[in-house]
Amino acid sequence: MKILAIETSCDETSVAVVENGDKILSNLVSSQVEKHAKFGGVVPELASRMHTEKINLLLENALDQADVSFKEINACAVTYGPGLEGSLLVGLSAAKTLAHTLNIPFIGINHLHGHLYANFFNKHKPEFPFICLIVSGGHTILTLVEGHFKFKILGQTRDDAAGEAFDKIARYLDLGYPGGPIIEKQALTGNELSFDLPKPMLKQGYEFSFSGLKTATIQTVQHFKKTHDNNINIPDICASFQKTVIDLLLYKAFRACREHKIPTLVLSGGVIANKKLRDSFIKEASRQNIKLFSPEPEHCTDNASMIGTAAYYYFKQHGSHNLTLRVDPNASMEDII
Ligand code: KG4
Ligand code: ZN
Repeated sequence: MKILAIETSCDETSVAVVENGDKILSNLVSSQVEKHAKFGGVVPELASRMHTEKINLLLENALDQADVSFKEINACAVTYGPGLEGSLLVGLSAAKTLAHTLNIPFIGINHLHGHLYANFFNKHKPEFPFICLIVSGGHTILTLVEGHFKFKILGQTRDDAAGEAFDKIARYLDLGYPGGPIIEKQALTGNELSFDLPKPMLKQGYEFSFSGLKTATIQTVQHFKKTHDNNINIPDICASFQKTVIDLLLYKAFRACREHKIPTLVLSGGVIANKKLRDSFIKEASRQNIKLFSPEPEHCTDNASMIGTAAYYYFKQHGSHNLTLRVDPNASMEDII
């Protein structure tokens, strides 16, 4: 079964062709990062306009690269939420038009389910039940996954997502956008033990507060500069901030595995592209004898192949949607539509 998948929930326009859930025939991602960088974050109106400009060309190129024609496509899948309303609408309209014109099934996919299913590209797939940690620019969420599309949220962030905190700290330090990869690069030459930042909500269940960590980091920088001639070592603060985020995620994710007696941990989302984070999870998983899964870094960040894979499993279990499906900017991981 060949699925044409579209992802436009935020600032990446992406189209993929995925065969039988795990064969990526093409996966094109057009990033708008440069356009938004000068504003220090995603500008929703600009994002939806750019999706409109890019989507047709990407559709053509994705089919070309997959070496398939429209006639060979068996279903059309698209992210319906969560995300930016205007951006989601562009993808949804394109997918509905294609499904209607080609007379093929139309499948709406939750973006968070897409992130999780980026772990199903490989031959070696995670076995249920498992604990899933999604860490992106919009979400930080720990879930118990009991089967295909059987999710129980254990905890999530009460305020900012971890990726959002990376982005906001980078903006505060005037380093650019998106903050994650920039802070990761700066941290390479920094000493992660230079600043002892607090770990908000560490002992409280499975919830996170990255806004709390962001504020504490900013206050630490302000205080240090006041007492050091307005100077601070940027790599040191970046490394300390990054270590604190990793420690928080690590602590809660492995605790969820332990407390639920589940030996498999599955990671996903843009922040999981971070090498230091990946290495730390690999080390801890081996120490605690946990089977760890994470997508390749390019599949951690937003891309349409993960939507195509999620759609394959969704279709097998629940079938397709009708064309009245609407975007849902606030869709939850537990929503099965
Ligand atoms: O999953 P994603 O592409 O989009 C959302 O669904 O939000 O995640 C984007 C987020 C951004 O906040 C970005 O700064 C962060 O992921 N990110 C990283 C890295 N690469 C992307 N954070 C830390 N280290 C990275 N290498
Ligand atoms: Zn995402």
